[in-house]
Amino acid sequence: MNWTGMEWGLANRLSKLIKPDGRCFYLAMDHGYFQGPTHGLARPGEAAKPLLPYVDGLFMTRGVVRSTLDPAMETPLILRVSGGNSMAIGDLADEDVTVSIDEIIRINAAAVGMSTYIGSDFQHRTLMALANLVNNCAPYGIPVMAVTAVGRELKEKLEPRFLALACRICAEHGAHVVKTYYCDDFEKVAAGCPVPVVIAGGPKTETELEVLQFVYDGIQQGAAGVNLGRNIWQNEHPVAMARALQGVIHENLTPDQAHDLYLTIGNS
Ligand code: 5RP
Repeated sequence: MNWTGMEWGLANRLSKLIKPDGRCFYLAMDHGYFQGPTHGLARPGEAAKPLLPYVDGLFMTRGVVRSTLDPAMETPLILRVSGGNSMAIGDLADEDVTVSIDEIIRINAAAVGMSTYIGSDFQHRTLMALANLVNNCAPYGIPVMAVTAVGRELKEKLEPRFLALACRICAEHGAHVVKTYYCDDFEKVAAGCPVPVVIAGGPKTETELEVLQFVYDGIQQGAAGVNLGRNIWQNEHPVAMARALQGVIHENLTPDQAHDLYLTIGNS
């Protein structure tokens, strides 16, 4: 990452979130904001604690941070600041920013993250919310991660033309990092986005190797890293999975090498 010309506070925060190798590993634990007590996240603080040594950032909402996390934790906090909907009813894209800039500063967020719903009825609202969030965070040097959210249409929207469009639009609106999904021809998605792109995992896969493979492939094709949740904390051995992913992201392990590491730690 080139910090030249970047204001010091913003560069300082980003330097903790994007490591000198240009890579990053964020642990996503924000799912409860629309899914409620998701399997594996009933007690988010307890689930997070053993995983924090392996990750470069933790993505969570303010309510869960305040009520379940040790304030002395050293892992940078990426605060999820959008919401306002639920799995129970209605359109998941109907989101807005839920956290004020005062709260963002008070909670000492290293960065904030919010969802945009490009291609939905709520495209304009969520993109304006992104632009306003960038404007509100800019005076304080707080980076913004935009999520290219797809709601219930993951299968339909998992294609490079759409994801490249969505990532680029988020970057153009001022996001410092964009979170999207891995897809075929992912290099087109990464190449079209002028800021670091991180990939989410989506629903838990059948095998660990699948996850290690798409994370590896994503990085080979230009992703900076991951913002990954269910495939870690819904795994039978979350610590082993986090360590294996750290190996792929920061130590250039191949999927097979990382899988061996997963098995060694998981079976110990
Ligand atoms: C949920 C999110 C998650 O942070 C993101 O999808 C990553 O989690 P997972 O790997 O479980 O998909 O934005 O709204």
